[in-house]
Amino acid sequence: MSPATTSSAQGYPPSKEFAAQANATAEMYDRADADRLEFWAEQARRLDWDTDFDQVLDWSGAPFAKWFVGGTLNVAVNCVDRHVAAGKGERVAIHWVGEPGDSRDLTYAQLQDEVSKAANYFSAIGLVAGDRVAIYMPMVPEALISMLACARLGLTHSVVFAGFSAGALRSRVDDAEAKLVITTDGQYRRGKPAPLKAAVDEALGSGDDAAKSVEKVLVVRRTNHDENLPWVDGRDVWWEDTVDEQSATHSPEAFDAEHPLFLLYTSGTTGKPKGIVHSSGGYLTQASYTFHNVFDHKEGRDVFWCGADIGWVTGHSYLVYGPLSNGATEVVYEGTPNSPNEHRHFEIIEKYGVTIYYIAPTLIRTFMKWGREIPDAHDLSSVRLLGSVGEPINPEAWKWYREVIGGDTAPIVDTWWQTETGAIMISPLPGVTEAKPGSAMKPLPGISANIVDDQGNPVSHGEQGYLVLDQPWPSMLRGIWGDEDRFRETYWSRFAEQGWYFAGDGARYDDDGALWVLGRVDDVMNISGHRISTAEVESALVGHAGVAEAAVIGAADETTGQGIVAFVILREGVENTGEALVKELREQVSIEISPIAKPREINVVPELPKTRSGKIMRRLLKDVAEGRELGDTSTLVDPSVFEAIRQKRA
Ligand code: WTA
Repeated sequence: MSPATTSSAQGYPPSKEFAAQANATAEMYDRADADRLEFWAEQARRLDWDTDFDQVLDWSGAPFAKWFVGGTLNVAVNCVDRHVAAGKGERVAIHWVGEPGDSRDLTYAQLQDEVSKAANYFSAIGLVAGDRVAIYMPMVPEALISMLACARLGLTHSVVFAGFSAGALRSRVDDAEAKLVITTDGQYRRGKPAPLKAAVDEALGSGDDAAKSVEKVLVVRRTNHDENLPWVDGRDVWWEDTVDEQSATHSPEAFDAEHPLFLLYTSGTTGKPKGIVHSSGGYLTQASYTFHNVFDHKEGRDVFWCGADIGWVTGHSYLVYGPLSNGATEVVYEGTPNSPNEHRHFEIIEKYGVTIYYIAPTLIRTFMKWGREIPDAHDLSSVRLLGSVGEPINPEAWKWYREVIGGDTAPIVDTWWQTETGAIMISPLPGVTEAKPGSAMKPLPGISANIVDDQGNPVSHGEQGYLVLDQPWPSMLRGIWGDEDRFRETYWSRFAEQGWYFAGDGARYDDDGALWVLGRVDDVMNISGHRISTAEVESALVGHAGVAEAAVIGAADETTGQGIVAFVILREGVENTGEALVKELREQVSIEISPIAKPREINVVPELPKTRSGKIMRRLLKDVAEGRELGDTSTLVDPSVFEAIRQKRA
């Protein structure tokens, strides 16, 4: 069966005014279809190359791609120096907002000085192109400066989310054999300083257990919370005593297009995180192209804000490389959305006149839970474009986002991509696409994706299957660090015969051929032989006025194969009427999707288990629902959430 198709869903055509000024045009699809490689060559030429490339794509070593063969460039120069050289040095690159209320504006000229100083210091301690540097920092300007300084020298950075544990940091430092670790003394967490350098000390160990590769730990003073910060002489240095003392002049070198720009570890199906490898020329080309077209960015006019942390790929591509390569002015916010209160994001939008705002659906649903009177108390009229990333966005949240944050006019770009894809792959083009709430619509010009069945046959409109990328793309991963076999096995073995990349997501075409990402394939349930996406049931539940957030899993069921188990959080002030409410919710799902999608069990819970990146841990909910011992909970923000859930079910 095909799940309730939403093809009749109301579409939102672009307004004439938006279309008239949009960067993207419908004709781009035709141009890319006519000559894909020429189209990408054109996009690559938006960057400054020291040596021109002589071949657009070399796919002879598939699945290891080479893009822009023979070309050389400097990524940091493309993100900073070239704007200064073009007379834009006084433009603000970064409006930085600290959690406790401090702030700092950095112009492109200042950014160039800061990046040059850091690069000079990294060279002074003997780092050379190809060496790896671990960056374990909160969202302070020095984190972005460090990434760019690495890029400037051809050092490969590995940013480790500062919410990860010492153990997680150690395994990543060891795997990459990082020579330098950059951190801060502490970080702000909801208004209070918390230690961070201490986790680095614990991670790096001492004596026989010391991380062998690490020569230096560079510490930025941020919280100043500890006068007697533990210090390892000879290894640890303060940023202010070293980087700040360097010359602000630095002559950059050009690197090969394929030079590894960064590693970013992401969790896989096994316990060991994978170090995803990204290139320089191809990565920057696509990060830059997507930023320009998907966000319709206008130099010197827009103020962009991506709410992601630099610890995730969204923070790499749309806080650093995408916006800065386009000479954008952006907001970088250090803290959480409710510090000191739930008005924080909207105050920032108002203060800086943010025009383009890019966040995850989970935050949108959190805003909905807090209530619209909070955003309504602010002038958000500067906002002209909204973006969503990281998970399927339910139509309810999509409409709320557009109406409440976007003044009922801002187009929404629902952007599908992954750590592995490096940049946005599937998304509406603002000003061109008539978007449907909840659909990522179609692959961008230059990108080819397909939905196929088990055997690799394309599915028809109205059907679902596996999402595959059947053509290489410039910002594709170049491998898993040090593990060629795992790279082939994880992404290229499922459809090895065809040579397609398997994204691990399910998707379907609606009756009009629009593409709907259904979520990870392991999140697709099979109920009595019917395939139902967890995202769809969640969306239906969230469609009920009393529900703030929902997580759904398929739990083993003797009769039906799998049974649907839901966990819901109620909106502020909504009364839990027990059986009556559960009945209403089941009815709601029945009406929105089909009676077969009715959850077998609905649990009203106070909180959902989430990773620090905001993803609901469905695997663990499945363990709970199936009465198993809990698997690894170390990546959860708050493992105690489960006690509350268990008690509710008891
Ligand atoms: C999911 C984040 C639906 C998907 C950039 C993918 C999405 C995984 C969307 C990658 C979207 C991301 N709609 N699902 N717009 N964007 N996903 O590596 O399951 O943290 O495979 O990259 O997030 O997550 P990652």
